[in-house]
Amino acid sequence: HQADAQRTDLMTITRFVLNEQSKHPEARGDLTILLSHIVLGCKFVCSAVNKAGLAKLIGLAGETNVQGEEQKKLDVLSNDVFVKALSSSGRTNVLVSEELEEAIFVEASHRGKYCVVFDPLDGSSNIDCGVSIGTIFGIFLLDHDNAGSNDDVLKPGSEMVAAGYCMYGSSCTLVFSTGSGVNGFTLDPSLGEFILTHPDIKIPKKGKIYSVNEGNAKNWDEPTRLYVENAKFPKDDSSPKSLRYIGSMVADVHRTLLYGGIFMYPADKKSPFGKLRVLYEVFPMSYLVEQAGGQAFTGKERALDLVPKHLHERSPIFLGSYDDVEEIKKLYSATI
Ligand code: AHG
Ligand code: MN
Ligand code: MN
Ligand code: MN
Repeated sequence: HQADAQRTDLMTITRFVLNEQSKHPEARGDLTILLSHIVLGCKFVCSAVNKAGLAKLIGLAGETNVQGEEQKKLDVLSNDVFVKALSSSGRTNVLVSEELEEAIFVEASHRGKYCVVFDPLDGSSNIDCGVSIGTIFGIFLLDHDNAGSNDDVLKPGSEMVAAGYCMYGSSCTLVFSTGSGVNGFTLDPSLGEFILTHPDIKIPKKGKIYSVNEGNAKNWDEPTRLYVENAKFPKDDSSPKSLRYIGSMVADVHRTLLYGGIFMYPADKKSPFGKLRVLYEVFPMSYLVEQAGGQAFTGKERALDLVPKHLHERSPIFLGSYDDVEEIKKLYSATI
């Protein structure tokens, strides 16, 4: 009987978010409506990704983005879907996307009180070979309802009110937080609904996995080099860590959240600020990892304390299990 109750008591993402909203009597449901539009965008991208190979949606779109990267067709399609879903929600004022050089300022008739920073398709280099990719988003609450400006999003990540990602892999999994813990939902394609599958995710305090692109080792600074050295040749008699690196931040962070360990995109001589973008990669993932009991560090400070100066600013990032990040913090503090 219990199993039956389990099966019929479907906790959909919509029901979950409404439950969360009911904990805030003052809430007018704006965040709930915004999240439902983000969920719609994720469902659309999930279906596009699943049939990308068949629908000739792989390959290049023939343009390059502000990052100097060649845009893939799915980069552009995903960006268009999220821009439309977010602006039509009537709950947004400023939109920042990896794929758009300038921010979008929603016109007055559709203006809301939230700013959304997003990476419509993360891990684009993995599209054509069918490896997991994803969407990353972060949400700031505006303290005014006038026309938006870049200043509305050039704030510390600690001011975000929600963040999440959707991973398009063997299953479509949406993980997000509105500030009281992290929950994961899996899309049931037969229902077209995200169902709660990973309630209250807590990252293991210490992990046995390190995740970094070892191909950049030649250019790493001393603390990163030392950390990876210790991971491979532990000084004490502990066993070496495993290396897992997928090359899609969403997939690497999702594994880190569930299994523990550390994910790193360090600075190096070639890119002194690392590669990952503060607003729509570093901030949302750092917010989630902290909400799950882990840490996120830039090599100098807590990642969420960063205040970006421009929209596509990059930062080195070390995030994951509390104890593992503590170790890298010690190595960097020894250099100050
Ligand atoms: P995007 O595809 O949105 O540009 O992001 C790619 C990022 C991130 O997903 C991943 O962690 C990183 O690029 C991998 O970079 P390297 O290939 O340099 O390791
Ligand atoms: Mn890109
Ligand atoms: Mn990305
Ligand atoms: Mn991207």
